[in-house]
Amino acid sequence: MNRRAAAISSVLIMTFILSGLAVAQTAETTLTKPKSDWAVPPDPEGLERGPWREMVLYGKQLIVETPRVVGPEVSNPAMRYAGNNLTCQSCHLSGGTQRFGLPLIGVYGAFPTYMARENEVRTLEDRINGCFERSMNGRALPGDSREMKAILSYIQYLSTGIPVGKTIEGRGSAALPLLQRAASPQRGAAVYKKICMECHQSDGQGKRIGSKGDAEGYQFPPLWGPDSFNDGAGMHRLIASASFIRANMPVGTTYEAPMLSVEEAWDVAAYINAQQRPARAHLELDYPNLGRKAVDAPFPPFTDAFSLQQHRLGPFQPIIDGQRRGGRER
Ligand code: HEC
Ligand code: HEC
Repeated sequence: MNRRAAAISSVLIMTFILSGLAVAQTAETTLTKPKSDWAVPPDPEGLERGPWREMVLYGKQLIVETPRVVGPEVSNPAMRYAGNNLTCQSCHLSGGTQRFGLPLIGVYGAFPTYMARENEVRTLEDRINGCFERSMNGRALPGDSREMKAILSYIQYLSTGIPVGKTIEGRGSAALPLLQRAASPQRGAAVYKKICMECHQSDGQGKRIGSKGDAEGYQFPPLWGPDSFNDGAGMHRLIASASFIRANMPVGTTYEAPMLSVEEAWDVAAYINAQQRPARAHLELDYPNLGRKAVDAPFPPFTDAFSLQQHRLGPFQPIIDGQRRGGRER
């Protein structure tokens, strides 16, 4: 009996050590092997007919065809919640089902959670509205609206079977090694020309499916300019943006087979973030606890002595080292 317990506990200890190693590797290397717990949920079209299926499908439509339903060009002004013609899927790739493409799988059970940007515990509704106000440069959906219920339903559907509180492998976008130097918008311009311009166009304004005013949105979304995300969006932070780009762009790229080098990803993200985009009012009120401010939040105030320029472009390691004691927020 004792021997058996000892054997079990040594297996447990080994497992613990091995999983500890796996975590350390994820944090430190660019490429990790895919793990088996990544599973794309089945198509909600297959759900049994009824109000639940309708809501889930409406939620999916809101994510995939956002400008057609709640974009700035829809005929009913009351429905114009998004301020630009991006879709949620422009960033939450493949309807929120892409590993390291900011997936929405498993996110239902990850909220409420503490968020440093507001320095409070936020609900999933709050988080969705954060993207409406920033990534979509628009206004918040009412909590009891059919649209909010539909988005929640779709995210709940995508999260079926994933335990509350579990962070699935592939959430967010993959960690990218930091550069020792500041990212360079000048070098990024060359990367942009070579690789991104073909789809996102030379002026970064993307390519419409149809024409302005038709609420159809884009074949290739704009990366800056008046119809893009605003300067308070997560994608406007260099670490978030460079990690997303490395793992997912050009579209079709995967984390396992990136097209860009680590340096190219940082530099092209810096180039994109140096361009004009809509301004969000009162960014100085974000991160009320400045000790927990994201190191790449590209707007003042800061409690540390690093320049605005360094918060924009890095190098970030010295800022992170200086912030060791405050828990950082993704
Ligand atoms: C311009 C890119 C962009 C667009 C467009 C966008 N988001 Fe996001 N979204 C992000 C980023 C970046 C994050 C932060 C991811 C992280 O914390 O790792 C995020 C986070 C989220 C999260 C939390 C995910 C998590 O893993 O905790 C939800 C939910 C969400 N967005 C919903 C939406 C919805 C709904 C829309 C459309 C109305 C939308 N987003 C549009 C970039 C975008
Ligand atoms: C083959 C066409 C193509 C190429 C090349 C391409 N992208 Fe994209 N990109 C897309 C599409 C399409 C989306 C939106 C995904 C969707 O709607 O499914 C997107 C989305 C994005 C987004 C998030 C949405 C937004 O509007 O900000 C960023 C950032 C981005 N691309 C950056 C880049 C960068 C940087 C490069 C070059 C390294 C690049 N892309 C190359 C097609 C492309």
